[in-house]
Amino acid sequence: MAILGFGKKNTINEDEQLKIPVSLGVIMDGNGRWAKKRMLPRSAGHRAGAENLKELCRNCGNYGVKYLTVYAFSTENWSRPTDEVNTLMDLFVEFWEKYDPELEQEGIRVRFTGDIDALPDRIKEVCKKGEERSKHRQKMQLIVAFNYGGRREIVHSCQNIARLVKEGKLNVEDISEETISDNLYLPDVPDPDLIIRPSGEQRLSNFLLWESAYSELWVSDCLWPDFGFDELTEAFRAYTNRDRRFGGLSKEDNK
Ligand code: IPE
Ligand code: IPE
Ligand code: MG
Repeated sequence: MAILGFGKKNTINEDEQLKIPVSLGVIMDGNGRWAKKRMLPRSAGHRAGAENLKELCRNCGNYGVKYLTVYAFSTENWSRPTDEVNTLMDLFVEFWEKYDPELEQEGIRVRFTGDIDALPDRIKEVCKKGEERSKHRQKMQLIVAFNYGGRREIVHSCQNIARLVKEGKLNVEDISEETISDNLYLPDVPDPDLIIRPSGEQRLSNFLLWESAYSELWVSDCLWPDFGFDELTEAFRAYTNRDRRFGGLSKEDNK
């Protein structure tokens, strides 16, 4: 098992054997509360949250996570005031310009999941460019859920499947769970082993509904902009001790 040391600041006990999720989901929640605590505008919280994503990427890459899916903007977040939505869109554009060189250095490939087609042209352009310029990177995939909703993703899959049936390429009787998975936005990305939600809310808020059927869940009271290496390590520690039975029995009961 990996023994990990990330330089002076980010080190863990060398005797500790952590199990690292191959596929990890993070709901980046709590930016507003972080700003409120400091009597700052909500936009400052979103900026601090964006900065923190860079840290999460570095730590996850070093830990050996292969797929990191982060929830950045939900299909329901359009219901926020126009000013806040505009800030989030502007930050999104700014982030890739500012941080892509660092992601490149870390070997992080970027992909986007969600109803990308429905986004303004300038955002679509950023997504296309970001995916294109990073597609050769090998260390980890960062999947950004933007204008993402789990229910909308399932609708998208159903529409693809209905089209295949209509074109005579698929029989209704042959539709299986695998068919639905295969027609989601990014079918090659494995279901998350672990989903982390900072800021204490105990809900998925429409994140990866189909894919999370057997994900382990970890909720932390820490607000997203403050969620650092120590909190990530704590989540992995909890994950290491989980007994993933998938409806079966524990290893020791199965003899
Ligand atoms: C998460 O932080 C960012 C987005 C949802 C885009 P919030 O803005 O939801 O922060 P809280 O929940 O109000 O603290
Ligand atoms: C979930 O957070 C969406 C993102 C973090 C992008 P919300 O703040 O939108 O979720 P609710 O409204 O508390 O469920
Ligand atoms: Mg929130």
